[in-house]
Amino acid sequence: MNTLIPEEVEEEVQIPSNSMLFEIAWEVCNQVGGIYTVIRSKVPSVIKKWGADNYFLIGPYFADQAAAHFDPATDYSTPVGKAVLKMQERGFDVYYGQWIVSGRPNVVLFNPYSVYDKLGEIKHFIWQDYHISLPGQDELLDKVAAFGFQVKEFFRYLCSSGFCTNRVIAHFHEWMAGLPIPGLRKENLDIKIVFTTHATLLGRYLAMNDNNFYDHLPFYNWEQEATNFNVKPIVEIERASAHGAHVFTTVSELTGRECTHLLGRTPDLILPNGLNIQRFEVLHQVQNQHLEYKEKIHDFVMGHFFQSYSFDLDNTVYFFTSGRYEYHNKGYDLTLEALARLNYRMQQEQSEMTVVAFFITKRPYYTFNPDVLHSKAMIEDVHRVCEEIKEQVGRRMYTKITSDNGQYVFPNLSDMVDDYLRLKLRRNVQSWRTNQLPKIVTHTLVDDAKDEILNFLRTANLINNRHDKVKVVYHPDFISTSNPLFRMDYTQFVRGCHLGIFPSLYEPWGYTPLECLASGLPSITSNLAGFGDYVSRNILDNEKKGMYIIDRKNRDFNQTADELANVMHRFVRMTRRERIALRYRSEEASLHFDWSNLGKFYDMAYNMVVER
Ligand code: G6P
Ligand code: GLC
Repeated sequence: MNTLIPEEVEEEVQIPSNSMLFEIAWEVCNQVGGIYTVIRSKVPSVIKKWGADNYFLIGPYFADQAAAHFDPATDYSTPVGKAVLKMQERGFDVYYGQWIVSGRPNVVLFNPYSVYDKLGEIKHFIWQDYHISLPGQDELLDKVAAFGFQVKEFFRYLCSSGFCTNRVIAHFHEWMAGLPIPGLRKENLDIKIVFTTHATLLGRYLAMNDNNFYDHLPFYNWEQEATNFNVKPIVEIERASAHGAHVFTTVSELTGRECTHLLGRTPDLILPNGLNIQRFEVLHQVQNQHLEYKEKIHDFVMGHFFQSYSFDLDNTVYFFTSGRYEYHNKGYDLTLEALARLNYRMQQEQSEMTVVAFFITKRPYYTFNPDVLHSKAMIEDVHRVCEEIKEQVGRRMYTKITSDNGQYVFPNLSDMVDDYLRLKLRRNVQSWRTNQLPKIVTHTLVDDAKDEILNFLRTANLINNRHDKVKVVYHPDFISTSNPLFRMDYTQFVRGCHLGIFPSLYEPWGYTPLECLASGLPSITSNLAGFGDYVSRNILDNEKKGMYIIDRKNRDFNQTADELANVMHRFVRMTRRERIALRYRSEEASLHFDWSNLGKFYDMAYNMVVER
């Protein structure tokens, strides 16, 4: 069976009639990573098609999260409500209500801990029936097994009344939710099962450890590799879910190839990831917001760099990369190499531009670097004194000009500032200035000496020297409003930047470039990321729409680094006018990825599963 790929479908797709859809995922009401974005952003468009009464999400219940995101139901008279009641009567800790997100979908949540007393028995049957041996005392696997057991029980209760006949589609996402699939098949419940994997675990590990992962893909022995990496139970769950589903899908063709070789089943369909694209009513809002948040990034940059030396902020562009810390898989190695080359080229041509490149990722750290915080606090002091002077001069000037008996003389402003404020300003500025180079990393890292990013920068001497045209700020934590350095949230930070850089080596889909696009920000990704691969096959003139794709399939590291440096260089040489136009086109192009367009692949999967 060949995989049906996105470019082969164009027409509108109807959802199957008289059906109900259940989507089961570990990230329902529980944010962990990208699958949360898939599920949550899709809700409004799914409800539009299926109606609120025919759509249910199933996820785990964690009390600390539920309080803020879950609203319990009052009406249990529906078949789903009745099944929940029956389970509660038998002692299961099950919750039924709504997820408080856009679209307010119905959800059923199971507390994994509520069946921990039966965990031994549950694992025993998983082993006896599907030959998957789950280790004792693995926190995640224990929760997954307990959750999976309850999901299966739920469908048993739901179907026991004859309700399911020819009606229920259950769509499971990723192995954490997929475990009940073999059980549902074994018990022969009348449920049509779709399984989507959002990656393969082995693929992720192998890509991290083998530079020629894609070339070697057909030749790996999954069992041996799973044992090597000590992840056999998870790989077995992935395989059992993929093989047990009536329709098996994944998020990109790249991951589809992994499935063929590592899971032993080629996906029936590719379901690309979309977003709920929310556009401003007035388009220039995108530009206004860019300006507003860029000013905030300027504030940070002034505090961080200008105590050592200054550069022209009007000729500065902000690059950033972000994501989980996977040095090779996320292409941080390539990004650094390309930045070093860009720096050299810009120096050679005596460019008047400056690039500040931010690395936003998560690494163990102790605290903020005290020097970085101190510098930020000191520049804020300088700013405060300037404001005081502004007030004082304004007041005095107003008084003077209006009481000059009709004779208009423009006063000497300098005379209007008290000595006290002058001294204060001078003291503040002098104590703020330093001879040290601006810090690379904003925090004190636990393993500074072994950090790969830092070691690259040290070797390349890309350490924020005065003469460097490319400066680097490494922020080993995610950005949030409570962060004193930036005082904004991640999406605002993105809007304030100029270019996102995500040239991954391994990425089943990858939301970061798409999130940039939706905010009107151009970005660079690679054709080894599902999103980049999709764009290179489906979007014409992608560069003009802010989607730069680096070829990592057919070139070696050195060639790719050059290509990446070229793209960055071209971007640096763009005029402001060109950047503004590109932001408009990027934001507009993101519409293609709205679920109103990409949701049709899901609907095809549902039609397929009903027919099987
Ligand atoms: C937005 C604003 C303009 C501003 C521009 C800066 O488009 O509306 O007023 O000049 O951003 O663009 P730049 O790419 O230089 O940050
Ligand atoms: C996984 C993949 C990521 C994808 C996400 C949503 O986390 O690693 O590439 O974007 O799932 O499908």
